[in-house]
Amino acid sequence: MYQDIKEILYTQEQLAERVKEIGAQITRDYAGKEVALASVLRGSYIFMADLSRAIQLPVTVDFMAVSSYGAGTVSSGQVEIKKDLSDSIEGKHLIIVEDILDSGNTLFYLMDVLRARKPASIRICTLMDKPERRTKPISADYVGFEIPDAFVVGYGLDYNEKYRNLPYVGILEPSVYGGK
Ligand code: IMP
Ligand code: MG
Repeated sequence: MYQDIKEILYTQEQLAERVKEIGAQITRDYAGKEVALASVLRGSYIFMADLSRAIQLPVTVDFMAVSSYGAGTVSSGQVEIKKDLSDSIEGKHLIIVEDILDSGNTLFYLMDVLRARKPASIRICTLMDKPERRTKPISADYVGFEIPDAFVVGYGLDYNEKYRNLPYVGILEPSVYGGK
């Protein structure tokens, strides 16, 4: 195993299996409808690619980028839209695709912004959820895995922009970010 990774939390196979299940669930829940997926870059790019292919409905994909973290492992609480969606979401069945729901700052803010654009419906799909860390009243409609309070990387998730390309999700060795 890569020396910076303390422990593998979810293997490539476990991720693929769970993403398939969520895709099937969304396919059932939105039967007969068209779904607009909007992913929050960059952490969810791999999840978005896999999830979109696991949904057997007409789907559109769009992307936005926000920043809430500096170069650390704790949210700064400040959310800024760095790149907005390209298309209108008015009247659409929107699913926000996130990598991880942590403090909830990012999605709490985004939900407000996106609701104001009058989608027909709006739901949140997150690959991972750290409920222990929540400081904002927000929860996801689709959750891949509930995880403990640890800093994870891989399958799109980074620490200082690295580790996104690991095919699994692993807990980062705390010494990498000066923790214990
Ligand atoms: P929140 O605003 O605190 O909910 O943070 C959400 C964002 O922080 C996620 O979309 C991730 O980009 C990032 N984040 C939170 N926890 C982790 C982690 O364990 N590893 C990598 N990124 C994380
Ligand atoms: Mg993110």
